[in-house]
Amino acid sequence: MELGDFYYRQGYKIVEKSIIFAINHFRLISLNCRKIKVLFILKFEIVKNILDGIPHTPPEDGLLLYNFILKSKPSKILELGFQHGVSTLYMAAALDEIGFGEIITIDRQSALHENPSIETLLNKSGLNQYVKAIYANYSYTWELMKIIRDNSTNQNEQILFDFCFIDGAHNWETDGFSFFLVDKLLNDGAFILFDDVYWTYSKSEGLKNTDFVKQMSIDEKNTPQVELILKLLVAQRENYSILSVNERWAWVQKIDNRNKIIQSDFESLFIQTSIKSDIKKLLKKIKSKLTK
Ligand SMILES: C[S@@+](CC[C@H](N)C(=O)[O-])C[C@H]1O[C@@H](n2cnc3c(N)ncnc32)[C@H](O)[C@@H]1O
Repeated sequence: MELGDFYYRQGYKIVEKSIIFAINHFRLISLNCRKIKVLFILKFEIVKNILDGIPHTPPEDGLLLYNFILKSKPSKILELGFQHGVSTLYMAAALDEIGFGEIITIDRQSALHENPSIETLLNKSGLNQYVKAIYANYSYTWELMKIIRDNSTNQNEQILFDFCFIDGAHNWETDGFSFFLVDKLLNDGAFILFDDVYWTYSKSEGLKNTDFVKQMSIDEKNTPQVELILKLLVAQRENYSILSVNERWAWVQKIDNRNKIIQSDFESLFIQTSIKSDIKKLLKKIKSKLTK
Protein backbone atom coordinates (compact mmCIF):
# COMPACT_ATOMS: atom_id res chain seq x y z
CA MET A 1 0.00 0.00 0.00
CA GLU A 2 1.37 3.40 -0.93
CA LEU A 3 1.92 5.99 1.79
CA GLY A 4 -0.63 8.41 0.22
CA ASP A 5 -3.19 5.62 0.14
CA PHE A 6 -2.51 4.82 3.80
CA TYR A 7 -3.02 8.43 4.92
CA TYR A 8 -6.13 8.69 2.81
CA ARG A 9 -7.66 5.59 4.47
CA GLN A 10 -6.68 6.73 7.96
CA GLY A 11 -8.19 10.14 7.26
CA TYR A 12 -11.36 8.52 5.96
CA LYS A 13 -11.61 6.33 9.11
CA ILE A 14 -11.26 9.37 11.36
CA VAL A 15 -14.00 11.19 9.49
CA GLU A 16 -16.22 8.09 9.58
CA LYS A 17 -15.68 7.64 13.34
CA SER A 18 -16.43 11.31 13.96
CA ILE A 19 -19.71 11.03 12.08
CA ILE A 20 -20.74 7.93 14.01
CA PHE A 21 -19.77 9.62 17.28
CA ALA A 22 -21.77 12.71 16.34
CA ILE A 23 -24.78 10.64 15.29
CA ASN A 24 -24.73 8.60 18.51
CA HIS A 25 -24.55 11.68 20.66
CA PHE A 26 -27.12 13.46 18.63
CA ARG A 27 -29.39 10.42 18.84
CA LEU A 28 -29.21 10.62 22.64
CA ILE A 29 -30.16 14.29 22.53
CA SER A 30 -32.85 13.52 20.02
CA LEU A 31 -34.23 10.68 22.13
CA ASN A 32 -34.45 13.02 25.10
CA CYS A 33 -36.16 15.59 22.89
CA ARG A 34 -38.51 12.83 21.83
CA LYS A 35 -39.40 12.08 25.43
CA ILE A 36 -40.15 15.75 25.91
CA LYS A 37 -42.17 15.71 22.70
CA VAL A 38 -44.14 12.70 23.97
CA LEU A 39 -45.03 14.80 26.99
CA PHE A 40 -46.12 17.60 24.67
CA ILE A 41 -48.21 15.30 22.56
CA LEU A 42 -49.78 13.66 25.61
CA LYS A 43 -52.51 16.28 25.94
CA PHE A 44 -53.38 15.81 22.32
CA GLU A 45 -53.63 12.04 22.90
CA ILE A 46 -55.88 12.48 25.93
CA VAL A 47 -58.25 14.71 23.98
CA LYS A 48 -58.10 12.41 20.97
CA ASN A 49 -59.31 9.52 23.15
CA ILE A 50 -62.15 11.58 24.59
CA LEU A 51 -63.21 12.59 21.06
CA ASP A 52 -62.97 9.12 19.56
CA GLY A 53 -65.81 8.59 17.06
CA ILE A 54 -67.35 12.07 17.44
CA PRO A 55 -67.70 14.15 14.25
CA HIS A 56 -66.31 16.39 12.67
CA THR A 57 -62.59 17.12 12.80
CA PRO A 58 -60.67 13.83 12.38
CA PRO A 59 -57.61 13.29 14.64
CA GLU A 60 -55.12 13.90 11.81
CA ASP A 61 -56.62 17.36 11.22
CA GLY A 62 -56.89 17.84 14.98
CA LEU A 63 -53.14 17.25 15.20
CA LEU A 64 -52.51 19.86 12.49
CA LEU A 65 -54.59 22.39 14.41
CA TYR A 66 -52.85 21.43 17.64
CA ASN A 67 -49.36 21.81 16.13
CA PHE A 68 -50.29 25.06 14.45
CA ILE A 69 -51.36 26.51 17.79
CA LEU A 70 -48.27 25.21 19.62
CA LYS A 71 -46.07 26.95 17.08
CA SER A 72 -48.00 30.16 16.32
CA LYS A 73 -49.20 30.71 19.92
CA PRO A 74 -52.36 32.73 19.23
CA SER A 75 -53.69 34.33 22.38
CA LYS A 76 -57.22 34.80 21.06
CA ILE A 77 -58.98 32.35 18.78
CA LEU A 78 -62.39 32.76 17.15
CA GLU A 79 -64.27 29.72 15.89
CA LEU A 80 -67.43 29.89 13.80
CA GLY A 81 -69.31 26.60 14.04
CA PHE A 82 -68.43 24.08 16.77
CA GLN A 83 -71.32 21.56 16.87
CA HIS A 84 -69.93 18.96 19.37
CA GLY A 85 -66.78 20.98 19.92
CA VAL A 86 -64.27 18.51 18.47
CA SER A 87 -62.10 21.11 16.73
CA THR A 88 -62.54 23.38 19.76
CA LEU A 89 -61.15 20.74 22.10
CA TYR A 90 -58.08 20.06 19.95
CA MET A 91 -57.36 23.79 19.96
CA ALA A 92 -58.04 24.08 23.70
CA ALA A 93 -55.62 21.21 24.40
CA ALA A 94 -52.92 23.15 22.55
CA LEU A 95 -53.70 26.29 24.56
CA ASP A 96 -53.41 24.22 27.71
CA GLU A 97 -50.01 23.13 26.46
CA ILE A 98 -48.74 26.65 25.86
CA GLY A 99 -50.40 27.78 29.07
CA PHE A 100 -52.42 30.74 27.83
CA GLY A 101 -55.07 31.84 25.36
CA GLU A 102 -58.81 31.86 24.87
CA ILE A 103 -61.20 30.49 22.28
CA ILE A 104 -64.46 32.24 21.60
CA THR A 105 -66.56 29.78 19.66
CA ILE A 106 -70.02 30.40 18.21
CA ASP A 107 -72.78 28.07 17.04
CA ARG A 108 -76.55 27.99 17.21
CA GLN A 109 -78.78 27.22 20.20
CA SER A 110 -79.30 23.79 18.63
CA ALA A 111 -75.71 22.93 19.60
CA LEU A 112 -76.89 22.83 23.23
CA HIS A 113 -78.75 19.62 22.39
CA GLU A 114 -75.92 17.88 20.57
CA ASN A 115 -74.98 14.54 22.03
CA PRO A 116 -72.35 14.88 23.33
CA SER A 117 -72.45 18.64 23.73
CA ILE A 118 -69.39 20.87 23.83
CA GLU A 119 -70.06 21.48 27.54
CA THR A 120 -69.94 17.75 28.31
CA LEU A 121 -66.70 17.33 26.39
CA LEU A 122 -65.12 20.38 28.02
CA ASN A 123 -66.04 19.07 31.47
CA LYS A 124 -64.65 15.66 30.63
CA SER A 125 -61.35 17.06 29.42
CA GLY A 126 -61.03 19.79 32.05
CA LEU A 127 -60.36 22.39 29.36
CA ASN A 128 -63.30 24.72 30.19
CA GLN A 129 -61.07 27.59 31.23
CA TYR A 130 -59.86 28.10 27.64
CA VAL A 131 -63.27 28.16 25.92
CA LYS A 132 -66.19 30.55 25.87
CA ALA A 133 -69.05 29.05 23.87
CA ILE A 134 -71.67 31.44 22.50
CA TYR A 135 -75.08 30.17 21.37
CA ALA A 136 -76.59 32.36 18.66
CA ASN A 137 -80.34 32.47 18.18
CA TYR A 138 -80.01 32.62 14.45
CA SER A 139 -76.48 33.16 13.16
CA TYR A 140 -72.93 33.86 14.25
CA THR A 141 -72.97 36.94 12.04
CA TRP A 142 -75.21 38.62 14.64
CA GLU A 143 -72.87 37.63 17.47
CA LEU A 144 -69.92 39.03 15.50
CA MET A 145 -71.84 42.29 15.21
CA LYS A 146 -71.96 42.42 19.03
CA ILE A 147 -68.18 42.02 19.35
CA ILE A 148 -67.60 44.70 16.68
CA ARG A 149 -70.10 47.00 18.42
CA ASP A 150 -68.43 46.50 21.81
CA ASN A 151 -65.02 47.11 20.26
CA SER A 152 -66.33 50.36 18.79
CA THR A 153 -67.68 51.63 22.10
CA ASN A 154 -64.79 50.40 24.19
CA GLN A 155 -61.72 51.14 22.11
CA ASN A 156 -59.33 50.63 25.02
CA GLU A 157 -60.32 47.03 25.53
CA GLN A 158 -60.95 45.75 22.06
CA ILE A 159 -61.20 42.02 21.43
CA LEU A 160 -58.99 41.15 18.48
CA PHE A 161 -58.14 37.64 17.34
CA ASP A 162 -54.93 35.98 16.11
CA PHE A 163 -56.63 33.00 14.51
CA CYS A 164 -60.13 32.35 13.19
CA PHE A 165 -61.46 28.94 12.17
CA ILE A 166 -64.50 29.26 9.90
CA ASP A 167 -66.37 25.95 9.86
CA GLY A 168 -70.05 26.85 9.91
CA ALA A 169 -72.42 27.60 7.07
CA HIS A 170 -69.91 27.18 4.20
CA ASN A 171 -72.03 29.40 1.96
CA TRP A 172 -71.63 32.69 0.14
CA GLU A 173 -74.36 34.50 1.99
CA THR A 174 -73.26 33.80 5.56
CA ASP A 175 -69.54 33.22 5.25
CA GLY A 176 -68.89 35.85 2.59
CA PHE A 177 -70.33 38.33 5.07
CA SER A 178 -68.53 36.61 7.96
CA PHE A 179 -65.21 37.20 6.19
CA PHE A 180 -66.03 40.92 6.04
CA LEU A 181 -66.94 40.93 9.75
CA VAL A 182 -64.05 38.74 10.90
CA ASP A 183 -61.60 41.02 9.07
CA LYS A 184 -62.62 43.82 11.45
CA LEU A 185 -61.72 41.59 14.37
CA LEU A 186 -58.29 40.33 13.33
CA ASN A 187 -54.85 41.51 14.31
CA ASP A 188 -52.35 42.02 11.50
CA GLY A 189 -50.60 38.74 10.87
CA ALA A 190 -53.63 36.74 12.05
CA PHE A 191 -54.61 33.54 10.26
CA ILE A 192 -57.98 32.38 8.98
CA LEU A 193 -58.65 28.73 8.29
CA PHE A 194 -61.59 27.99 6.00
CA ASP A 195 -62.94 24.46 6.24
CA ASP A 196 -64.70 22.51 3.48
CA VAL A 197 -63.45 24.59 0.56
CA TYR A 198 -65.20 22.35 -1.97
CA TRP A 199 -68.40 21.57 -0.06
CA THR A 200 -71.63 22.02 -2.05
CA TYR A 201 -75.31 21.88 -1.17
CA SER A 202 -75.92 19.25 -3.85
CA LYS A 203 -73.36 16.92 -2.23
CA SER A 204 -74.68 17.42 1.30
CA GLU A 205 -76.63 14.32 2.36
CA GLY A 206 -78.28 16.24 5.16
CA LEU A 207 -79.38 19.27 3.13
CA LYS A 208 -79.74 18.36 -0.54
CA ASN A 209 -83.37 17.23 -0.24
CA THR A 210 -84.59 20.11 1.91
CA ASP A 211 -87.05 22.68 0.53
CA PHE A 212 -84.47 25.37 1.18
CA VAL A 213 -81.99 23.73 -1.17
CA LYS A 214 -84.61 22.68 -3.72
CA GLN A 215 -85.41 26.36 -4.23
CA MET A 216 -81.83 27.17 -5.21
CA SER A 217 -80.63 27.54 -8.78
CA ILE A 218 -78.61 24.63 -10.16
CA ASP A 219 -75.37 26.59 -10.04
CA GLU A 220 -75.98 27.73 -6.46
CA LYS A 221 -76.45 24.10 -5.41
CA ASN A 222 -73.44 22.83 -7.35
CA THR A 223 -70.91 25.57 -6.69
CA PRO A 224 -68.41 25.21 -3.85
CA GLN A 225 -69.20 28.51 -2.17
CA VAL A 226 -66.21 28.68 0.17
CA GLU A 227 -64.00 28.47 -2.91
CA LEU A 228 -65.94 31.45 -4.32
CA ILE A 229 -65.30 33.41 -1.13
CA LEU A 230 -61.60 32.67 -1.45
CA LYS A 231 -61.39 33.61 -5.11
CA LEU A 232 -63.71 36.61 -5.21
CA LEU A 233 -63.31 38.11 -1.75
CA VAL A 234 -60.11 36.98 -0.03
CA ALA A 235 -57.75 36.81 -3.02
CA GLN A 236 -58.87 40.22 -4.20
CA ARG A 237 -57.95 41.90 -0.94
CA GLU A 238 -54.46 43.37 -0.97
CA ASN A 239 -53.87 42.71 2.68
CA TYR A 240 -54.74 39.01 2.52
CA SER A 241 -52.52 36.23 1.37
CA ILE A 242 -53.78 32.74 0.56
CA LEU A 243 -51.07 30.49 1.96
CA SER A 244 -52.30 27.04 1.04
CA VAL A 245 -55.38 25.24 -0.20
CA ASN A 246 -55.95 21.51 -0.16
CA GLU A 247 -59.02 19.37 -0.76
CA ARG A 248 -60.48 20.47 2.55
CA TRP A 249 -58.76 23.46 4.09
CA ALA A 250 -57.63 26.90 2.98
CA TRP A 251 -55.15 28.82 5.14
CA VAL A 252 -55.21 32.56 4.76
CA GLN A 253 -53.27 35.33 6.45
CA LYS A 254 -54.09 38.95 7.07
CA ILE A 255 -50.87 40.74 6.33
CA ASP A 256 -49.40 44.12 6.55
CA ASN A 257 -46.24 44.87 4.63
CA ARG A 258 -44.06 44.67 7.70
CA ASN A 259 -45.43 41.34 8.73
CA LYS A 260 -45.57 39.55 5.42
CA ILE A 261 -45.08 35.87 6.07
CA ILE A 262 -43.46 33.82 3.37
CA GLN A 263 -44.69 30.41 2.33
CA SER A 264 -41.75 28.53 3.87
CA ASP A 265 -42.30 30.23 7.25
CA PHE A 266 -45.92 29.21 7.12
CA GLU A 267 -45.07 25.59 6.43
CA SER A 268 -42.69 25.52 9.36
CA LEU A 269 -45.69 26.14 11.63
CA PHE A 270 -46.73 22.53 11.03
CA ILE A 271 -43.45 20.65 10.82
CA GLN A 272 -42.86 18.08 13.50
CA THR A 273 -39.24 17.12 13.87
CA SER A 274 -38.19 13.48 13.84
CA ILE A 275 -34.93 11.71 14.61
CA LYS A 276 -34.57 10.90 10.89
CA SER A 277 -34.87 14.50 9.81
CA ASP A 278 -32.63 15.64 12.70
CA ILE A 279 -29.89 13.21 11.59
CA LYS A 280 -30.27 14.28 7.97
CA LYS A 281 -29.81 17.89 9.04
CA LEU A 282 -26.77 16.95 11.14
CA LEU A 283 -25.15 15.01 8.30
CA LYS A 284 -25.72 17.96 6.01
CA LYS A 285 -23.99 20.22 8.55
CA ILE A 286 -21.04 17.82 8.94
CA LYS A 287 -20.74 17.50 5.15
CA SER A 288 -20.69 21.24 4.66
CA LYS A 289 -18.03 21.60 7.40
CA LEU A 290 -15.89 18.86 5.81
CA THR A 291 -16.04 20.45 2.39
CA LYS A 292 -15.05 23.90 3.70
C1 LIG B 1 -69.31 21.22 10.47
S1 LIG B 1 -70.06 21.74 11.94
C2 LIG B 1 -68.70 22.33 12.88
C3 LIG B 1 -67.75 21.26 13.26
C4 LIG B 1 -66.63 21.66 14.21
N1 LIG B 1 -65.92 22.86 13.77
C5 LIG B 1 -65.64 20.51 14.29
O1 LIG B 1 -64.81 20.37 13.37
O2 LIG B 1 -65.70 19.76 15.25
C6 LIG B 1 -70.87 23.20 11.44
C7 LIG B 1 -71.62 23.91 12.55
O3 LIG B 1 -71.87 25.22 12.10
C8 LIG B 1 -73.10 25.64 12.64
N2 LIG B 1 -73.62 26.74 11.82
C9 LIG B 1 -73.88 26.75 10.50
N3 LIG B 1 -74.31 27.96 10.13
C10 LIG B 1 -74.34 28.73 11.23
C11 LIG B 1 -74.69 30.08 11.50
N4 LIG B 1 -75.09 30.90 10.51
N5 LIG B 1 -74.60 30.54 12.76
C12 LIG B 1 -74.19 29.74 13.76
N6 LIG B 1 -73.81 28.45 13.57
C13 LIG B 1 -73.89 27.96 12.33
C14 LIG B 1 -73.97 24.39 12.61
O4 LIG B 1 -74.98 24.51 13.60
C15 LIG B 1 -72.97 23.28 12.88
O5 LIG B 1 -72.98 22.92 14.23
